Amino acid sequence: MRILGIETSCDETSAAVVEETGDAAKPWAIRSNEIASQVPIHREWGGVVPELASRQHIRDICGVVERALDQAETRWSDLGAIAVTQGPGLVGSLLVGVSFAKAAAVAAKLPLVAVHHLAGHIESLVLQNGEMPLPAVVLVVSGGHTSLYLVDRPGRYELLSRTRDDAAGEAYDKVAKLLGLGYPGGPIIDKLARQGNDRAVALPTTRLTHADRNAPELKGDLDFSFSGLKTAVSRYVRDRERDRVAQGSSPALADVEVADIAASFQRIVVTVLIERLFDAARRYGAKSVGIAGGVSANSRLRAELQARGEAREMPTFLPSLKLSTDNAAMIAAAGLRKFRAGMTSPLDINADAALAL
Ligand code: KG4
Ligand code: ZN
Repeated sequence: MRILGIETSCDETSAAVVEETGDAAKPWAIRSNEIASQVPIHREWGGVVPELASRQHIRDICGVVERALDQAETRWSDLGAIAVTQGPGLVGSLLVGVSFAKAAAVAAKLPLVAVHHLAGHIESLVLQNGEMPLPAVVLVVSGGHTSLYLVDRPGRYELLSRTRDDAAGEAYDKVAKLLGLGYPGGPIIDKLARQGNDRAVALPTTRLTHADRNAPELKGDLDFSFSGLKTAVSRYVRDRERDRVAQGSSPALADVEVADIAASFQRIVVTVLIERLFDAARRYGAKSVGIAGGVSANSRLRAELQARGEAREMPTFLPSLKLSTDNAAMIAAAGLRKFRAGMTSPLDINADAALAL
């Protein structure tokens, strides 16, 4: 069976066709995965502008779906279902995909499967590599989320911890902005950090030991926090600019210094993410670990995951670079998982900006 996936939760309009392989170990294959990125539109504003995003999704959605079907040499009548991201995300953006998917499901007489965006990121690991040994602990780390999930059975995702404030990708984007580096910040800092000394600047790590009053069911000691780190970088940059002015120089920091800050910031972020992931793996007796979401494209995070996995003899899973950032193939994969578990959605579903997994 083939499924059409649609993803419009943030600033990429994406459609994909994924098909079942019949191989239980590697259940799905990508036939197409079309992505229209809005990054050039939002770059000018230093971040995603929701109203511009939803309008651009409306312009792009029909063409993107047509291209995905053409690429996959698939007609509407070859499909068995349509999967769409229901949430979380920007509500105006989500609505475009959800409305399109509902209309297409009616017109083509196909079942609709509503998918949680983070289930999509988690299933990107299986789409790329085949089924993970379970139980698995998966870190989903993107511009909007930094969360640890326990997957004890296929398709069941239990939240173990999350960030109390900024997501890791958001911290990358904010730090890049205050260093004057452009948007999105993650890939720029990743590249720049390779030229810097990652011990040049002393920056704090935050270790939370107390439960979160807003989530008393979670113990809280596996939670993340990145806003203190971002503030520390901001303070450091301000102090250094003041020093330079006092010495009669221009305030703008030298390139080597910016690279040192990027490297030092990245070392802290990656260390925290890897430590918490492996702490959780130990605590829950995981047989494998994975990292998914936009920040899983980070070169240092990928290298350290692999190194730590080898040292601990723990199988590690990552998506390809294309599957790490938002895309519809992962939504199609998560949709197939739900469809095979008998879970389809009524046609009166609504987009849900704060959908729980
Ligand atoms: O998953 P994604 O495409 O969208 C969300 O659901 O948020 O993730 C986008 C985030 C951005 O914050 C971006 O800066 C970050 O992923 N990102 C990276 C890298 N590539 C993208 N962060 C660190 N290193 C990278 N190479
Ligand atoms: Zn995402």
